[in-house]
Amino acid sequence: MEYPVWHFTGISSGLLIAVVSVLHVFIAQFAVGGGIHLVWTEYRARRQHMPELLLWLERHTRFFLLVTMVFGALSGVGIWFSISAVNPGATSFLIHNFVFFWAAEWLFFLLEVVSLLAYCSTCRLTREGSMPPETHRRIGLIYAAAGVISLVLINGIITFMLTPGQGPSSGDVWDAFFNPTFLPSLVFRLALSLMLAGMFALFTASRIRDEAVRRLAIRSGAQWIIFPFFLLLAGSAWYFAALPPDRQDAILRRTSDIHPFVKTYGWILPAVFLGGVLAFVKSDHLRRPLTVLILCAGLMLTGSFEWIRETGRRPWIVEGVIYSNGVSVAQAERAGSEGAASVSGWLRAFDDMTGAGSDTAPPAQVIRLNGSLTRGALLFAQQCNTCHGLGGPRIDILPLTARLTPEGLAAQLQGQGKRLEYMPPFAGSQADRDALVVYLKQAEASHRPGPIPGAEYFKPRTSPSAD
Ligand code: HEC
Repeated sequence: MEYPVWHFTGISSGLLIAVVSVLHVFIAQFAVGGGIHLVWTEYRARRQHMPELLLWLERHTRFFLLVTMVFGALSGVGIWFSISAVNPGATSFLIHNFVFFWAAEWLFFLLEVVSLLAYCSTCRLTREGSMPPETHRRIGLIYAAAGVISLVLINGIITFMLTPGQGPSSGDVWDAFFNPTFLPSLVFRLALSLMLAGMFALFTASRIRDEAVRRLAIRSGAQWIIFPFFLLLAGSAWYFAALPPDRQDAILRRTSDIHPFVKTYGWILPAVFLGGVLAFVKSDHLRRPLTVLILCAGLMLTGSFEWIRETGRRPWIVEGVIYSNGVSVAQAERAGSEGAASVSGWLRAFDDMTGAGSDTAPPAQVIRLNGSLTRGALLFAQQCNTCHGLGGPRIDILPLTARLTPEGLAAQLQGQGKRLEYMPPFAGSQADRDALVVYLKQAEASHRPGPIPGAEYFKPRTSPSAD
């Protein structure tokens, strides 16, 4: 709450992170599986003396480099940019607590970049005989290992956010890193990475002109979907079973917005497998559209899984420590007794500039800064906008508040987090709640013609009380 906020009124800021990160994870996991796939396929092609397959691999490596290094790296920067703009408190928390893990992650990423560039640029040298194939393979192995290690590192941090385990109580970073879902998630992500490698291999293999080589490459790509699929199934089940009952409940029951993603995941899983089998059996008639469809299915599989994992964590960024909206447990408690401004420099600045809180000023809820920004808008941006859009996609708050009178909404805010445990408690005093109610009801009214419901609520109260 001490940071400025990036105010996305229409879409929720969480949606922005979701779009950027799903695309990134899709490519980044392809980068991990792709490394293993390249080294292994090259090894097999050499052992079985298939120079045409090696030629395709060379082209596939260039494609791989372009996609993973350009798009993967850019979208990775995009994630850092969006999470630190949307949720600076939580980003800072994760950086501070895992600082050496992040440092190691960046180091391995650098190693990935260098080794992949070396691997790609020495394909031709190896083909022409000026570099021994073993050396080329070793470079590939370095790349593959660096990719897997960077997955292991990020996996520990991401799973910590969902299931912190003993970490927060013992204060030991290794407890936090090797948390209850570390292993199942690693198995799941490795399996998905291998499958993505197969999907992208199918995509370029279907463009090989020579029929025999095309068939070989396609069959190999399909195998990379079919075999790891069983590992993915086992990983999914293990992952879910390793979640505390509370998290399982959050995913399956608590809110209506997660269901479509659970359903999508359930449908896409067999569809991906079927796509692999179809490609395998009908390899010579394989049309390019099927490979594109399989890739889309892979993206949907990645997206629905990540969505379920992220939303299943509600109302937490890190369970028991920091809420989804970046407000920490300690801040929420203090704000409850001393008001939101006690933990937010930005609200304090707002109050200073507008004179809110002084004896002569009108009550905080009706004061505007520069004729537009209200205190309520600031509170909405700080505490609700990560999950709720306002008049836009993703848990639009307007129809939800429309069901409540201003008094009802104020009461709901007072009890938020207790009755509806998927939302964090509202961090603020009665005056803060009033300011937010006024803002939301006015927003509702401006989206719908007619008088503002419960207009008397907006009349300035003579003595704003803080409870
Ligand atoms: C962690 C994410 C999250 C945050 C933060 C959050 N909400 Fe919600 N809210 C939800 C979800 C999810 C639902 C339920 C949607 C559904 O079931 O379709 C919901 C539902 C609601 C409802 C309807 C409740 C009902 O009785 O059905 C209201 C009103 C609401 N939120 C207001 C707020 C306000 C105001 C804030 C900020 C102070 C806020 N929420 C912060 C996730 C959040």
